[in-house]
Parts: sequence; C-alpha cells; structure tokens
Amino acid sequence: ADPLSRSLLRWYADHQRTLPWRTANSPYATWISEIMLQQTQVDTVIPYYERFLDRYPDIETLASAELSQVLASWQGLGYYARARHLHAAAREMSRIHRGEIPRDRATLLSLPGIGTYTAAAILSIAFNQDYAAVDGNVKRILTRVLDYAGSIDQGEHKRALEECAQRLLPSGRASAFNQALMDLGATVCLPRGPRCSLCPLEDLCLAAARSSQELRPVRSARTPSPFHRLVGAIVLRQDGHWLAVRRPPTGLLGGLWEFPMTTWTEEA
Ligand code: ADE
Repeated sequence: ADPLSRSLLRWYADHQRTLPWRTANSPYATWISEIMLQQTQVDTVIPYYERFLDRYPDIETLASAELSQVLASWQGLGYYARARHLHAAAREMSRIHRGEIPRDRATLLSLPGIGTYTAAAILSIAFNQDYAAVDGNVKRILTRVLDYAGSIDQGEHKRALEECAQRLLPSGRASAFNQALMDLGATVCLPRGPRCSLCPLEDLCLAAARSSQELRPVRSARTPSPFHRLVGAIVLRQDGHWLAVRRPPTGLLGGLWEFPMTTWTEEA
C-alpha cells in the first residue's frame, strides 16, 4: 500500500473513536448513522441515533411507522428532508428489495437521500467494498497533504480529489481507510488550528512542510444565505388549542407544523 495509507491505518488501529454504530456493525445501523451524520456532528448525533435504533430497530419497523412519528423522533436534528427520505427509502427497501439494504452502488443511489458519499460510506463500512467516501473532512486532509490549491467547490477539482482518494484506498481495507480519514479530520486535521504534531501524515504533508495548512482547502466564494423577514402570530384560542399551519410537503422544513406566518413588508 501507499505510505500514506499505511501510516493512516496504523494510526487508526490505535486512535479510532468508539462510536455506537461501529459497535453495532450492521448495514441498517450504518445507513441510519450515515444519514444522521450527513449534516450533523458526531456528539449531537449519538443520543438521537441511540433513541432512533431503540424505536426503529430494523427496516420493517421503520417502513411500517407513521411518517409523523419518524419526524417527531428527528425533532431537533434539523434538515428534516433527511427523515422523510429515510422513511421513504425504508418503504422502498421493504417493498422491492426484500427488506434489505441494497449492496450495489446503482441501486443504493436510486434510493431517496442516498448520494455518492453516503453510497460509498455504506458500501465500504457495511459491505467491505472498495469505495472511497469523500466528504468535506477528506477533501480538507487531501488538499493539505498535497498542498492542493484548486477550489474544492469546482467540479474538476472535486473529481480530482475523489480519484486521488480512490487510488490511495488499499484494496480490502475501505472500511478502516474511510473511517480513519473521518476520525483524523474530526480530531487532528481540524479546519482551524490543526494538531499537526499528533498527525500520522505530518512527514508526508506538503502543507505542513510549507506552513500552508490554514490556506487549504481553497473554496470559491459562497452564494450568500437567503434572508427573509417574516411576521407571525401565536394564537391561543379560548378552547385551549394553539393555531398552527402545516408547511408544503417539500422544500424548507417541508411538511412540518408552525405558527402562521407571512412575509413582512414595511409599507401597508
Ligand atoms: N462521519 C460520517 N460518517 C462517519 C462515521 N462512520 N464515523 C465517524 N464520523 C463519521
């Protein structure tokens, strides 16, 4: 194997984090954890993950649950489309995949909520297939090791890094390789103030040699977040019920309930 992979795997053997979905070691647990971890940090995910697996221990239980119950279990995690997609995917698995998580990339990608990163994570961690799972952590590590100056927001550079990760992946070790990069990104190769003296890749790292760690990765200017000014009413009726309305089924906070609101305008 490449010296980078060798150092990385040796480090992971000693320093991997103990995480509930690693102990569980089932494809279902891997899938649920990867969906929760898409936009949420490990520490926040853990209690949600444990409650979710208690309530929905397998695909059939999740597929036969009411969506409103699944959304209630998700309350506080944010990005609720993830819960809707999870529920829809469980129903598809139950209905057309014999109640199992598909083991091939194309079928996984056809399911709601599963993109290239999540498909690679599931295939490598649950089924030991040689797919590199490239998320923001991995891009940060690779752009630093290579002192790579291309913008990770541009397709050609994103593809170059994905190909690089796939070349570095030692055959048969995808699960450890991918999770080692996740742990290194979360505990050592931090976005600000990386702890290079603890890093197994320090001797190989071009950014460490050139002191350019904080300049990597290069990102394109972000499109600014949209800004909305709204006015709402909180109405408690005489009968003790609160007035609430349901948002449209798709889009931001789709299908969730809220107090009635409308856009705020300065002039009447
Ligand atoms: N982030 C995304 N997937 C992860 C995993 N399997 N372990 C740790 N962090 C992760």
